[in-house]
Amino acid sequence: LNFEGRTAFVTGGGNGIGLGLARALLARGAKVAIADIREDAIHTALKTLDNQHVIGIPLDVASRSGFADAADEAERALGPISLLFNNAGINLFQTIDESSFDDWDWVMGVNLHGVINGVMTFVPRMKAAGLGGYVVNTASMASFLCGGAPGIYNTTKFAVRGMSESLRYSLAPHDIGVSLLCPGLVKSHIYASDEVRPATLSENAKPVDGNAVARLAQIHEFGMEPDVIAARTLEAMQENRFHIFPHPEFQDELRVVFDEILADFRPYPADAGHDQRVGFEQMR
Ligand code: NAI
Repeated sequence: LNFEGRTAFVTGGGNGIGLGLARALLARGAKVAIADIREDAIHTALKTLDNQHVIGIPLDVASRSGFADAADEAERALGPISLLFNNAGINLFQTIDESSFDDWDWVMGVNLHGVINGVMTFVPRMKAAGLGGYVVNTASMASFLCGGAPGIYNTTKFAVRGMSESLRYSLAPHDIGVSLLCPGLVKSHIYASDEVRPATLSENAKPVDGNAVARLAQIHEFGMEPDVIAARTLEAMQENRFHIFPHPEFQDELRVVFDEILADFRPYPADAGHDQRVGFEQMR
């Protein structure tokens, strides 16, 4: 995969991982549209990137019509998008039993529907342009590993994982690669997610605990640099590797998870003439 001369669309490009991706793409000769709900972050990002091949577009990824408009604007300015990074995401640091329907709607709207909207908006355009390309969906180690909190976040990231894996099979014939980016802790602003929560979904929100947010901000200071995540992501794209695990230290934890799954199988007697695997293979 050659990045030079291609055009990328990066959601959540105003901060954190998205900004790191934009910087890495520009350095490899790509043109980049960064889309973000925070106009202040877009403004600062454009100043920091200081490059004539990047533009900023205000976008709430939860909005279908907003996505279509942003796609038109990006393609008018920079040409057909062939690299799509569905990266915008938020976290709500609370358990499912503490959560309201508004909490579900907000986190599902951004973390899952945002990715769906990106795919539904751009994949038809990418296929029509015939340039091949790549879709990277930012999930998390939380698409494999669960704790009690944050349950809604886990739900969305597991869903993005399933969707991405399916998409990978369907886009392969079109020369469009798909990868799932699964970072552990990253030095980013995700602890401040509440600042971009829409008022329409805030009525039933638990009051924000300032101390907890301050603690999260401190924890994220220990996270991996977004530029390192970005470099490992672009390298994985060049190798057409589906899973991108920038944090190698999680390998042992994943082994425990998969061992537990395998240990839950029981040697039930074979059902004569009935093999579920056949049906599953055909669905693929
Ligand atoms: P960040 O908060 O630094 O950057 C995310 C950007 O997305 C922000 O600029 C924010 O304004 C934007 N955003 C939020 N809601 C949006 C919306 N509705 N529409 C458009 N833009 C919106 O956070 P970070 O960490 O860079 O997050 C990027 C992705 O990485 C997310 O999907 C997150 O779940 C994932 N991730 C983050 C980890 C971490 O430790 N920070 C770990 C694993 C995954």
